[in-house]
Amino acid sequence: MDVRTFWLAGRPATGDAELTVTNPHDGREVGRYSVPTAAQVEEAVAAAAAVAKQAAALPVHVRAEALAHVSRRLAERADEIAHLIMSENGKPIMWARGEVNRAVATFRFAAEETRRWSGGTQRLDTEPAAAGRLAYVTRVPKGPVLAITPFNFPLNLVAHKVAPAIAVGAPVIVKPAPATPLSSLVLGDILAETDLPAGMFSVLPIENERAGDLVADPRLPVVSFTGSAPVGYAIADRIPRKHVTLELGGNAAAVVLADADLDWAAQRVALFSNYQAGQSCIAVQRVIVERPVYDAFVERLLPAVEALVTGDPADEKTQVGPLVSVAAAERVEQWVGEAVAAGAKVLAGGTRDGATVAPTVLAEVPHDAKVNVEEVFGPVMILQPAASIDEAYAMVNDSKYGLQTGIFTRSLDAAFRANRELEVGGVIIGDVPSYRADQMPYGGVKDSGIGREGLHSAMEDYTYEKVMVLTGLTL
Ligand code: SIN
Repeated sequence: MDVRTFWLAGRPATGDAELTVTNPHDGREVGRYSVPTAAQVEEAVAAAAAVAKQAAALPVHVRAEALAHVSRRLAERADEIAHLIMSENGKPIMWARGEVNRAVATFRFAAEETRRWSGGTQRLDTEPAAAGRLAYVTRVPKGPVLAITPFNFPLNLVAHKVAPAIAVGAPVIVKPAPATPLSSLVLGDILAETDLPAGMFSVLPIENERAGDLVADPRLPVVSFTGSAPVGYAIADRIPRKHVTLELGGNAAAVVLADADLDWAAQRVALFSNYQAGQSCIAVQRVIVERPVYDAFVERLLPAVEALVTGDPADEKTQVGPLVSVAAAERVEQWVGEAVAAGAKVLAGGTRDGATVAPTVLAEVPHDAKVNVEEVFGPVMILQPAASIDEAYAMVNDSKYGLQTGIFTRSLDAAFRANRELEVGGVIIGDVPSYRADQMPYGGVKDSGIGREGLHSAMEDYTYEKVMVLTGLTL
């Protein structure tokens, strides 16, 4: 099998070591990739820094056309790339196809947004002393972006960092997750087809232990990280003077209020606790149900969970596949075991076969169990009855995390109250917390992170406002 090259300042390169990507479903080798040397990493950073001024001055049509090209090519190669995501990540093909479609949209939104990204003017002659003065306000890239990306969306969460960087005219260096770098390297193939200047992008599949030097490098003033809270905060603590965007974990809650459509809620909760084997920061983990409808909801939920199709990710019908590794599945199994030993009841699942954990529903989980207070990142949900809407919302907030919450209700009052009271970055009314549209602001509060992604939000994050004051004008 050929060893996959990486992207160094816009050209393919080979390092002096190799790593292997393994399919979590069957343990087979998916491919091998070359690992950049320290000198090559240095070359990529130097190239990003050297091209930063030219990148910031790129005409809008060049940036927009490069982004539109990536979107079109991802669409043309969708089937091939979906199979690659499936193989390297174990994600069922239906979700892998969904991820490619989302990446197509992410680059398309970025192309559209960059055309709208025009700055503005402010009249300053609001005071007599500023007669004839006008402010011209633009946003300027802070500089090259270091994008550290996770395994759970090996294409679209890379797109969410690369597309806004190109949109604002910032070079970007991607450090993909070592388990799943192949999709980001294909994205590099497509970026290399554009007219972007050399140095504008590198994809460096280095080991996690080597990322610290990149994080600390002053030539990369923006670090955008998606991953776990401990790693994210270790990065932020290490570089207090840099701009850091952290998309971290969550233990997302779905709240089912007494007026909800229980059939819809049960279907959605069952699926979105288990899609991608629960490996999404906004997968449903805590299910908080108003007591009057608790039994009726559980009666609908359990058959919906049992009906999920688990198995071979290549099968178009499979909804739940393996976790990213056997070790990840063993950790989830251990957390479930700890909860059960402390008194939790298993209503469904609770078993593991290799890297696959059966969709699991737990009830009567002690409050301090890891499956309640930590991010499970596996196909496990816990059921919690709430005496009232007050108690339900207090339970949502009783978490160190705050990414997104879903509220199943028909009440506008309950919806607006959730929006006012819940300590999260997003409230989804009438659906699961797992809903994300790629153009909307996305990110958390508390230990779920700092900053926002979503094209416009990330473009703001990667830039600062600059004002030029014109004087002596006749306005
Ligand atoms: C995440 O896991 O943080 C991303 C979720 C998504 O993009 O759907």
